[in-house]
Amino acid sequence: MTTQIKTMKAALCTGYGAPEVLEVSDVRRPTPKAHEVCVKLRATAVTASDTIVRGRKIPLWHPVGFMMSLVIGITKPRNPILGMVFSGEVVSIGEKVQSFDVGDPVYGMTGPEFGAYAEYLCISEKGCLSKKPSCMSDEEAAAITYGGLIASHFLEKGALAQRKKVLIYGASGAIGTAALQLAKCAGAKVTGVCSTKHLELVRSLGAEEVIDYTKEDALPDGVSYDLVLDAVGRKKTSTLKTQCRKALAKGGRYLSVDDGMPISRPAYLHKLSTLMELGQYRAVLDRVYSLDEIVEAHKYVDKGHKKGNVVVTFAE
Ligand SMILES: NC(=O)c1ccc[n+]([C@@H]2O[C@H](COP(=O)([O-])OP(=O)(O)OC[C@H]3O[C@@H](n4cnc5c(N)ncnc54)[C@H](OP(=O)(O)O)[C@@H]3O)[C@@H](O)[C@H]2O)c1
Repeated sequence: MTTQIKTMKAALCTGYGAPEVLEVSDVRRPTPKAHEVCVKLRATAVTASDTIVRGRKIPLWHPVGFMMSLVIGITKPRNPILGMVFSGEVVSIGEKVQSFDVGDPVYGMTGPEFGAYAEYLCISEKGCLSKKPSCMSDEEAAAITYGGLIASHFLEKGALAQRKKVLIYGASGAIGTAALQLAKCAGAKVTGVCSTKHLELVRSLGAEEVIDYTKEDALPDGVSYDLVLDAVGRKKTSTLKTQCRKALAKGGRYLSVDDGMPISRPAYLHKLSTLMELGQYRAVLDRVYSLDEIVEAHKYVDKGHKKGNVVVTFAE
């Protein structure tokens, strides 16, 4: 008897370079191991991390770039299917899976193992995976995961619960829009920094004050913050950013999203689900592409000025 090999559509990263290194192709569909679930994806997102990996934007000579290449692959990604976040439905489970069942709507993050630019992926039930509440669409779930998880990690590291005044430098990107909303939910007064075209968005997410880094070089006299989060990373800077770094209250803390590898905890996903259900958190969706448009999606994210998140959907 011959068993038919099942295939799926995936975007493959054939080498490091411009967005055109991504090619949509048919590959073998994965099957779940004992503790894994197999998810049929409805949506993923193109994140800043995906474009950093695809474009090898951290050079090999840099210690972080060197470490990344050892983990991800020296000449091309070991797993050619990039993509870290997903939303979809469980279609099969390994024989030892206990917490999920076929038919469960789920969302989550694979992290540096990637695999989410494909119609199906397998992930351990103990991985960063959560049931998706019905109030969230697949696009919304794919949009909130990356920024929500990374912002949760850094805000916890910065002891958000004890901070009354928070400044988010870069409040309009995936991590920035998430950090702003999480800080508001924790009861902090938030100042958001972004460019002119995103001032209204940042205000609408609840920032009490909004500062345009393209127009202002300094903070108002005498202001200080208990927590300053650089949500755009060290490469993106301005004169104002230097001022923000210095504007710490006594006992205040400055953190950059480039300070170490964030840990993705399922508990953070559960909290995001709850906040979405309570209507206290929303997905910020910039553009939606299909998998066939993955090169266009990467070109857009490469520009470095997306508003929140860029989502990719899969055909039924
Ligand atoms: N530590 C880690 O392992 C780790 C993991 C993931 C991400 N990161 C870092 O996190 C960064 C941000 O990720 P993300 O997904 O939130 O990025 P993103 O969504 O691409 O961020 C885009 C935002 O950055 C803002 N921006 C660009 N240049 C700026 C500047 N000079 N000053 C202030 N804002 C600026 C843009 O706002 P305007 O259009 O309003 O200018 C845009 O909204 C990544 O680039 C990476 O460095 C680190």
